[in-house]
Amino acid sequence: MKIHVQRGKIAEYHTEALLVAHFEDSASPEGPAGLLDQSCGGQISDILAGGDFQGKLYQISVLYMRGSIPAKRIVIVGLGKRADFDLEKLRGAYAKAGQQIRALNLKEFALSIDTEILNKPLPQLTETIIEGMILGLYRFMPYKTIDREKIMDIQDIHMVEENGGHLKLMRESAKTAETVAKAVLFTRDLVSRPGNEMTPSDLALGAREVARRRGVTLKILDTTQMEKLGMNALLGVARGSSEPAKFIILEYYGRRKSDPPMILVGKGLTFDSGGISIKPSEKMDEMKADMAGGAAVMGTIMAAADLRLPVNVVGMIPATENLPGGRAYKPGDILKSLSGQTIEVITTDAEGRLILADALTYALRYKPAAIIDLATLTGACIVALGDHVIGMLGTDDSLKDKIRKAADRTGERVWELPLWEDYHELIKSDVADFKNSGGRAGGTITAAVFLSKFVENVPWVHLDIAGPAWLAKDKPYIPRGASGVGVRLMVQVLRDLAAGKTQKMSQ
Ligand code: BES
Ligand code: MN
Ligand code: ZN
Repeated sequence: MKIHVQRGKIAEYHTEALLVAHFEDSASPEGPAGLLDQSCGGQISDILAGGDFQGKLYQISVLYMRGSIPAKRIVIVGLGKRADFDLEKLRGAYAKAGQQIRALNLKEFALSIDTEILNKPLPQLTETIIEGMILGLYRFMPYKTIDREKIMDIQDIHMVEENGGHLKLMRESAKTAETVAKAVLFTRDLVSRPGNEMTPSDLALGAREVARRRGVTLKILDTTQMEKLGMNALLGVARGSSEPAKFIILEYYGRRKSDPPMILVGKGLTFDSGGISIKPSEKMDEMKADMAGGAAVMGTIMAAADLRLPVNVVGMIPATENLPGGRAYKPGDILKSLSGQTIEVITTDAEGRLILADALTYALRYKPAAIIDLATLTGACIVALGDHVIGMLGTDDSLKDKIRKAADRTGERVWELPLWEDYHELIKSDVADFKNSGGRAGGTITAAVFLSKFVENVPWVHLDIAGPAWLAKDKPYIPRGASGVGVRLMVQVLRDLAAGKTQKMSQ
């Protein structure tokens, strides 16, 4: 799909469909919709007056122009009530409209943006609209072989702008949105791929794609190297599988290499059966998405490099399967982590924190300014918060504030849970330093408390994306399945850092 920003008058534009928007509480069509209404003899006013279309959020109507203007159709989408309007709704409305236009089997459409009506800066509006459309039009189709020729995709979207002075800014914003959205789709593709074609080695191939032609350095530690280092927590999890584990490192330096990097760690469990503590078979298929954190980190590095952000950021993805093979690790086993601290395995299904522990310890070698980890870590997070929000826990208030701010902007919302001392008790072991499960109560918190034992004093935030990483139901701009959550959030954190809006990573 291509986005074109071009100068022109919308009422004179030749296209299959012109997309315009309307607020529920405006009595008559305004902005581009108003202009078009005049040119087409009041057809938009008619559907408003007749009550066919009210402008309710995501409501869509299609009008045929029959030659009154060069465009064949007008597609009008509702934005809901003006007072409730925000960028998230705008993203959703344009995604829904794009999907509707695709369902009409059209290959192309046009739109123009009215900053006065939408009352936000032009770059924000342009970015949001394009992002919404690209993300909303995503489908994962490589395995469909029947009737492939019937799969229709939008190929071109034209943004038509009368004011020549706006074009440059719009083009820049469009480019940014396309870059970020591309990284999200890259992440969704990785997460959607089935476990048999997304092994740790396949994930490493994905990282190779990120590194290629971007000035990003790729390092992959294999099992022999990890054994030498002593990454026995990660290797313990990997023992049950015959697929070799990989430790993937992607380095992007947008500043002097001596500036301490931000480190992003992503859980790369390419399939989590639970291991010997095997999961119930219901929905076990969804555990192919247990590498969503790792994939989000890869997407973030891709976008940071493509945007040439002046930041140093290193991605680390511990990647393995968790299977109950004959040599699998077992409940009761004690693992000596890379940090030297020992861990009693209570359940082999709490494997994410084990592989992350070694990754976090490895991250300390970089003397990082901060560490953020993203992981589909606990079912408890879904129980606590559902699938609309990321669970956030961490040791650094200023870093958490930066993430909250980026969450507001991107719609990838976060909600904080505490890391209080009281919970540390729950992961003490009788025989080792820690145990890998604190039981059912407060499962998301005890998982994060466990991770906190491996970050020393580095400002650190843990994002539990178990809920939003994989959706059972469509959302306006996230078709069900892999969401790519975390990429837009992390890219926004990095952009804010780059813009110096938020001076340092902590205090
Ligand atoms: N990958 C799962 C968490 C998960 C569950 C993510 C459902 C997405 C959807 C993780 O490895 C896990 O199994 N966690 C256990 C921990 C428990 C055994 C302490 C859980 O949440 O049940
Ligand atoms: Mn598990
Ligand atoms: Zn898992």
